Amino acid sequence: MEFLVKEMEHTMVIKTPNDLFVRLLYEINSAEKQITRALPKLARAADDSNLADAFKEHLEETRGQVERIEQAADTIPDIRVKRVKSYAMESLIEEGQELIEAVEKGPLLDAALIGAAQKVEHFEIAAYGTLCSLAEQLGYTEARDILAETLKEEKSADDKLTKLAKKDVNKKAG
Ligand SMILES: [Fe+2]
Ligand SMILES: [Fe+2]
Repeated sequence: MEFLVKEMEHTMVIKTPNDLFVRLLYEINSAEKQITRALPKLARAADDSNLADAFKEHLEETRGQVERIEQAADTIPDIRVKRVKSYAMESLIEEGQELIEAVEKGPLLDAALIGAAQKVEHFEIAAYGTLCSLAEQLGYTEARDILAETLKEEKSADDKLTKLAKKDVNKKAG
C-alpha cells in the first residue's frame, strides 16, 4: 500500500511552475528528513573530532531547515507539505553507508566521509537554488527569502567541509 502511495505521488501531474515548485518542495522535504537520520551515523563514523562536530552542527541546522520548509509552505496559499521520496538523497546516503562499511575508521574514512557529505551538500545547493528561482518567478517572496537562508547554510556547510579536507583530514589520510 505504502508503495502504491509513493508511486502515485511520483506520478503527480506537473503542468505549471507552481506544480513544479510544490513537487520539488515535497522532494527536498523528504531529502532533509532522510539526511537527518543519516548525519548521526556520519558523526559516529568520523575519527577526527572536528569532522564529527561539523556533522553534529549540521544536524542541528538541518532540523531548522525542515522547519523552514513548513514555514515557507505556510506563506503560500493551498500548500500542505507532504513528502515525495527523494531517490537522489537515498542513493547518496547509501553510497556513504557503503564507504563506512568498506573503509576502516580513521583518516582515510574521514576523507571518504567528507567527499560523501559534499555530494549531499551540492545536491541540496542545486535543489534550493532551483526552489529559490521558482519562488522568485512565482512571486513567493517570503518563501524565497526563507529558502534562501537554507541555501546559505548548505553553502557554508560545504565550505566548512572543504576547509576540513584541506587542513587536516586529507593530510592525515596521505
Ligand atoms: Fe539541508
Ligand atoms: Fe546540508
